[in-house]
Amino acid sequence: MTDYITLEIFRYRPEEESNPSFQSYDVPLRKDWVILDALNHIKDNLDGTLSFRWSCRMGVCGSCGMMVNGTPTLTCATFMEKFLPGPIRVEPLVNFPTVRDLVIEMDNFMEKLSRVKPWIVREEEKPLAQGEHLQTPDQLMNYKQYSMCINCMLCYAACPIVGLEPGFLGPAAIALAQRYNLDNRDQGKKERMDVLSQDDGIYECTFVGECSVVCPKSVDPAGAIQRYKASTAIEWWKSLLLPWGNK
Ligand code: SF4
Ligand code: FES
Repeated sequence: MTDYITLEIFRYRPEEESNPSFQSYDVPLRKDWVILDALNHIKDNLDGTLSFRWSCRMGVCGSCGMMVNGTPTLTCATFMEKFLPGPIRVEPLVNFPTVRDLVIEMDNFMEKLSRVKPWIVREEEKPLAQGEHLQTPDQLMNYKQYSMCINCMLCYAACPIVGLEPGFLGPAAIALAQRYNLDNRDQGKKERMDVLSQDDGIYECTFVGECSVVCPKSVDPAGAIQRYKASTAIEWWKSLLLPWGNK
């Protein structure tokens, strides 16, 4: 006999209803099923109208983030068994507008990411004929942790400051800025710091630290923000103490 577990799913279809509701589905309780498997079972066998995002099923694309029993969760990397005996409540990530069912609107997040220039900035690019920008393993390790971000947005759902101040640049964008600032091939730190030092930048963070707790890739955005704050304080002191400023 198959055991079942109940999923309570947030439903919102704006063309049909003005308020969201919850709908319950019983799905087979299989030891090897993650939450995303259960959602796909519902979509394929019980209710084809359910909408949610996913792609890689292996914790790489970052598209399957949802609230599971109130916690921001990567649904392709979280086994259903963890929530026995159920029910398991699945909702869209909080701190984002909901487009439909479990699908959130990402435009604001993408705009924040682009503001920190998440690419290598060069003042002057050397000709290819002069060779590659080689790095030592130590130089790679300097920023590797921050390069593991998959843009899943769980840290934005976990951050109370993002909830209170929607303009806050937020954990992943700041960690991504740190990824490029710590890359010895990059020369864009000053441009990024101008963005990060604004009112909606690093000083909005009160170091609650939940972003690092929920991050499925151990990026530690809270640590990135504190490192930034420390480096800006050092630059400020240098500008006071050194007659030629902090150049
Ligand atoms: S920092 Fe972590 S939680 Fe935030 S978007 Fe990147 S991978 Fe996701
Ligand atoms: S489906 Fe790609 S990270 Fe989950």
